[in-house]
Amino acid sequence: MAIQHSWQQAWEQTLTGANSFYRDNPPANQFTTSVMFNGELASAVAELIRGFDDGTELIITDVGAGAGQLSLALADQLAERPWIRFAAVDLSPSPAVLPPSMRWLVGDARALPLQPARRVVIAHEFLDDIPCERFEVDEWGEAHLIIVTDGAAIMGPTLADDIACARLEVNAAELRNWLDKWWPARRPFMRGEVGSTRDATWQHLTGWITSGLGIAIDYGHLRAEREVGTWDGGTLTGFRGGRAVTPILDGSCNITAHVAMDAVAAARPNCEYTLNRQTEVLHGGHVTKPGGLGDFLWLTQEFSDT
Ligand SMILES: C[S@@+](CC[C@H](N)C(=O)[O-])C[C@H]1O[C@@H](n2cnc3c(N)ncnc32)[C@H](O)[C@@H]1O
Repeated sequence: MAIQHSWQQAWEQTLTGANSFYRDNPPANQFTTSVMFNGELASAVAELIRGFDDGTELIITDVGAGAGQLSLALADQLAERPWIRFAAVDLSPSPAVLPPSMRWLVGDARALPLQPARRVVIAHEFLDDIPCERFEVDEWGEAHLIIVTDGAAIMGPTLADDIACARLEVNAAELRNWLDKWWPARRPFMRGEVGSTRDATWQHLTGWITSGLGIAIDYGHLRAEREVGTWDGGTLTGFRGGRAVTPILDGSCNITAHVAMDAVAAARPNCEYTLNRQTEVLHGGHVTKPGGLGDFLWLTQEFSDT
């Protein structure tokens, strides 16, 4: 019998596993993210940091730092504040030259136990890379797990079948709970992604903060849009050489899916946050990237140790 995996397990293999895309494809050659377009995004983030900074020790921690453009731009723009230090985390090695104020940590951010400190944690186009499960609804309105067999994605057991899902090492109850709360619609033939792994990742990253800011900037969506069907086709995409391609699981492309940003915000309850569209934050509301940045959401969360 062919070996079956859940989609998340197969996706994980293309991130950190046997057929890791990043092992052979340095981020600098693969992405055209907003941080590479111009200094506008870094300037907006620097402004948020200046608004928070009170002249005491602060570590700016860029998670999924890629080729380091955002960290390097921030180090440059905040150079007049020598008490601010920088840490960048990525699966890939650092650029050749780093400023003395910056450390580069190579590793899986989800497993890094960084010392809690006064920090600004920034995740720019990072959470969309975190593998998650996918679901598809059948013609009777029942949600199924998407599984992978011989490299092909097919409809697997229903999410109501705890035993069949457990055989695939999937906790169906956890997925159902997330869907009931954040993506409750069950329209026949709709597809989507279950965001619980992104929520857990954000909880982990912001656990490195005693007081500070958590800033997540990503392709995202909100419950009101999910409820009315805006994202019923799902958001899974592949990227290779900076271009969107069919997402296949052989390690030849980077796989991403939009982030349920309101669910991520709720992963750290009891702290103030704002959620804005990037078009509102940058450039007076004008879209600056060909293809549009309307899907880009900014989550800014403030943490205090008092
Ligand atoms: C789309 S790129 C974004 C890079 C950069 N933040 C930017 O906006 O240009 C995603 C980055 O996250 C890194 N990454 C993905 N999963 C990771 C993980 N679990 N731990 C650390 N880095 C990860 C990848 O190596 C890649 O450099």
